[in-house]
Amino acid sequence: MDKSKLNQLLVQMSLEEKIGQLTQFTPQYLGRENGELTGVLGDFEVEQVYLDSLGSILNADSFEDMVEIQREHLKHDRLKIPLVFMRDIIHGYRTIFPIPLGLGATFDPDLIEEMAHQSGSEAASEGVQVTFSPMADLSRDARWGRVMEGTGEDSFLNAKMSASMVKGYQGQPGILAHDPSRIAACVKHYAGYGAVLAGRDYSTVDFSRITLYQDYLPAFQSAIEAGAKLVMPAFTLFEGVPATASKYLLKEVLREYLKFDGATISDWGSVDKFITMHIAGNQQRASELALNAGLDMDMMSGAFVRGLKQAVAEGAVDVADIDTAVYRMLELKNDLGLFEDPYRQFGENHATNEVFGEKIRANARKVATKSIVLLKNKNVLPLDTKIRIGVTGPLGDSQKILGAWSSLGKHSDAVSLATGLQKRFDHVELIPLPTSSDPADYANIDVIVAGLGEREDDTGESACKTNIELPEDQVVLLKRLQHTGKPIVGVIFAGRPLVLTNVVGLLDAILYAWFPGTEGGNALADLISGVSLPQGRLPMTFPRASGQVPIYYNTPRNGSPANDQNPSKFTSRYVDCENAPLFSFGYGLGYGDVHYGTPTIDNKVLTDNRDIKIEIALNNTSMYGSIETIQCYAGSSITEIVRPEVELKHWQQVEIPAGSTKKITFTISSDDLAYVHSDLNREADKGAFIVRIGSSATNYQELSLVYR
Ligand code: BGC
Repeated sequence: MDKSKLNQLLVQMSLEEKIGQLTQFTPQYLGRENGELTGVLGDFEVEQVYLDSLGSILNADSFEDMVEIQREHLKHDRLKIPLVFMRDIIHGYRTIFPIPLGLGATFDPDLIEEMAHQSGSEAASEGVQVTFSPMADLSRDARWGRVMEGTGEDSFLNAKMSASMVKGYQGQPGILAHDPSRIAACVKHYAGYGAVLAGRDYSTVDFSRITLYQDYLPAFQSAIEAGAKLVMPAFTLFEGVPATASKYLLKEVLREYLKFDGATISDWGSVDKFITMHIAGNQQRASELALNAGLDMDMMSGAFVRGLKQAVAEGAVDVADIDTAVYRMLELKNDLGLFEDPYRQFGENHATNEVFGEKIRANARKVATKSIVLLKNKNVLPLDTKIRIGVTGPLGDSQKILGAWSSLGKHSDAVSLATGLQKRFDHVELIPLPTSSDPADYANIDVIVAGLGEREDDTGESACKTNIELPEDQVVLLKRLQHTGKPIVGVIFAGRPLVLTNVVGLLDAILYAWFPGTEGGNALADLISGVSLPQGRLPMTFPRASGQVPIYYNTPRNGSPANDQNPSKFTSRYVDCENAPLFSFGYGLGYGDVHYGTPTIDNKVLTDNRDIKIEIALNNTSMYGSIETIQCYAGSSITEIVRPEVELKHWQQVEIPAGSTKKITFTISSDDLAYVHSDLNREADKGAFIVRIGSSATNYQELSLVYR
């Protein structure tokens, strides 16, 4: 539709129709039974006029449902404005890819763009038009259940990944209306949700504006620059105000600084939560606060339909502001081509795609393979396919490896670790729990593979933990298995970094599989047999004790730094634990043995007109190929505000075949030294700086350089 016609539509709408247009409900509000509930259903009546002119439906369960709902809606909506259907397509729709934290571990933005396109197209083919993804939240606290939904603790990595996801879902700018395989992306949760106090979901958040601009905004900025059509403000606070009521976040930062021109949609029931937070006494006041702050659509609170009309009557809300919000929703629908075709080229009789596309499954396997991180390998892996394997552990033969937020993915479609191994290896025996520890019972087994970790349900929204250690009964299991004298490979399924301190010594090899999705068992078999090479790298720091969290590699310097090797009083340390993590950000092994040569530079002085080139040779001396993720960190020596020593600035993923050497070049520019200063401007300080090049945040070679 020509954009000028949107205004013509807008002027014909009554106030009630406008308010309906700004409201989103689940199908239950239309009296239907189906529909996924990802929050609490409100117990209130909605006047028919609002239901007839509703703007959007979330979480409808099938194409048939969506067609029927749309058809009915178009019969009742006076101006025939189609509904827009939204859903959480977080890491797959039916074919489930690894959880986003695992996607972060791939360090491969192109692959993630492809996966977003495929999972989006699977959802699109069944009627979904908008996904509430990517989740661009920076996550530093592994107690928080939602760390599984983001790509980790580094804002630079997150920014690359959130942009890739948006591009994958939406395709080239302007193509949404014409390409039915594309869906619109809603980046969430804006901003700072990951900083919830004590890692407890929905709890309070408080950090500085510098931290907002430096750490929390970049992944939103890149998603917006990639064209994200919607932004969802977080449940949490910024400077004492819920994001959904924050004029500062929704107007000043979002519209002026980030130049976002799409629509905002609240999180589930967010507007109602103003009442629980005691910043509004009733829904009318809550709706007023949200609309005036710049919220366009109310998801599931009902506050707009119950309060906004009266707020207008009392002069507390200006109709012009409502019009702005409505226009944005109409624009979204227009961008999706819904006015021309509310079923987006699938037609009313399109059949639900119950059959998995082989291509999507193959890609899910590839992504899972690349997401899994080899944490330890005492010359056990890869295993010859003739080797006799005993599979045990609570997750050894479990199909509950899809992970939280797995939409319509079915556990029955998932390939368990044991099934994957059985397809690849000649002899795979299941060892039921409780296991024997008598070596005689293991005479026919060469290697034990133990499927360990946490339950899917203990991760994701409102699934936070105070203790992130591997469950005690699994430690006991490993101790028993040690008596058998057989090498033990631990495959750990988890939605967060778990504390593995007590079990690292009990395992000969560790593969950290996250929740790998539908093709998990096949991907693991590919890695364990050496058909694929492990290449995942940790997108979050792994603590050695629960009490260390939040722990992340780029904490600002402090005035009393501790030395783990030589601990002394009055330094920033624990009396019962080292400061160093168990495994650092960026860490991960391959089967190959790659040596990093001494980096060389073309020049020691960086200027605004002259970059520095750093070259490093990598030599693979082993019989296995290796896919290395070479990381480049940088930071200024003297800074205006207290800063981390370095931050990730570049990485390259390079395949180094067995017995070969490759040279890699990084280019450092002054932009790599830029950071957010006290006046909120991002700039670089002149003077000395360091660059670190290595295989993780803690395994590197350092260069001292100067910026003039
Ligand atoms: C979550 C969002 C999600 C929404 C809709 C909320 O509970 O916080 O991330 O998009 O539900 O399902």
